[in-house]
Amino acid sequence: MNRDQKVKVPLAFKRYRSAINTELRSVLADRKSPLYEMMRYHLGWADEQGNPVRGSPGKALRPTLCLLACEAVGGSWYKALPAAAGMELMHNFSLIHDDIQDDDRERRHRPTVWSIWGKSQAINAGDALATIAGLSLLGLAQRGIPAGRQLLTHKLMYEACLTTIEGQYLDISYESRFDILVSDYLEMIERKTAALIARSLEVGALLGSDDEDVIRGLSRFGWNLGLAFQVRDDILGIWGDERKTGKPWGSDIRHKKKSLPIAYALETAKGKARRELVDIYQEEVIDDEGVRVVLGILEAIQAGVYAQSLANEYYSAALKQLRGLSLLPWPRSQLRDMARFVVERES
Ligand code: IPE
Ligand code: IPE
Ligand code: MG
Ligand code: MG
Repeated sequence: MNRDQKVKVPLAFKRYRSAINTELRSVLADRKSPLYEMMRYHLGWADEQGNPVRGSPGKALRPTLCLLACEAVGGSWYKALPAAAGMELMHNFSLIHDDIQDDDRERRHRPTVWSIWGKSQAINAGDALATIAGLSLLGLAQRGIPAGRQLLTHKLMYEACLTTIEGQYLDISYESRFDILVSDYLEMIERKTAALIARSLEVGALLGSDDEDVIRGLSRFGWNLGLAFQVRDDILGIWGDERKTGKPWGSDIRHKKKSLPIAYALETAKGKARRELVDIYQEEVIDDEGVRVVLGILEAIQAGVYAQSLANEYYSAALKQLRGLSLLPWPRSQLRDMARFVVERES
């Protein structure tokens, strides 16, 4: 996409935003320990001192997809709010821990939780957030969701959480390896990112309909969307504008991440370029000059073009899944817009 073109943000984000915020706040209401200050800070509701702010709360992609799926199958999205909030809280748990694991000091244009409160307390904040995500599902009973569907929602959310952690395990284990192929990379991102996105859609659909085909179809749409989302994230991690991403320049390279462009380079670069790449990744620390050399190698093999074309393939595969599903017209067009947003986004 032309850099000057404006990315179209789907209306669905705006439609559910305030209901999602209210639900998230209600789950955390009345919790007084300073532990929750870290969470409120991370969620963009408070500053470091606990004073209320209008911060950078994140895009709320997963809860928006969950509610949209529910509406698309003819359900009442209001009833799915506790599940949507649960998915967003689970996602935020993974981010707090991910920033510790990736040694990242900045997220959403602000210092990360661990960089302010230290790693030990940030682990507590993440653990508590994952626990609260589970508690938030109790709200489904008050919205009249039958017990069987509540249990299924629980199962899918925790299976997704476990799969995410499996993905994080692979991601970290790849840091010290040079034999990573694109297929290994895909196995990793399917777990660390696509699972939670796919399950958010699946849960939204099953809270709105009994139709197994449509639930399965939206889940498949979600797996493809999730893969496209992470590939685009990897592109932004290397070539994104840090004023838009809110994450520091070069951090994926500095932290020796086998993000898609690097996995592609390890698989495709030959001779001197490959040796140079491996040498840099074997250094204890990759400095600015090292990052620049890596960027040159990626440029020479057009790794960015390759990565975007793969994101576009998953985008097309996602759209294909929507065809033939019985969905209401407005949410259907929004699901398409969400898929497009995922592959074009700059933050
Ligand atoms: C970031 O996800 C982590 C990944 C799975 C790539 P988002 O980009 O959805 O994070 P926020 O919540 O909008 O900040
Ligand atoms: C995304 O991790 C997946 C999870 C947080 C579980 P990344 O490390 O690739 O994402 P960013 O770039 O830090 O958001
Ligand atoms: Mg990570
Ligand atoms: Mg990270």
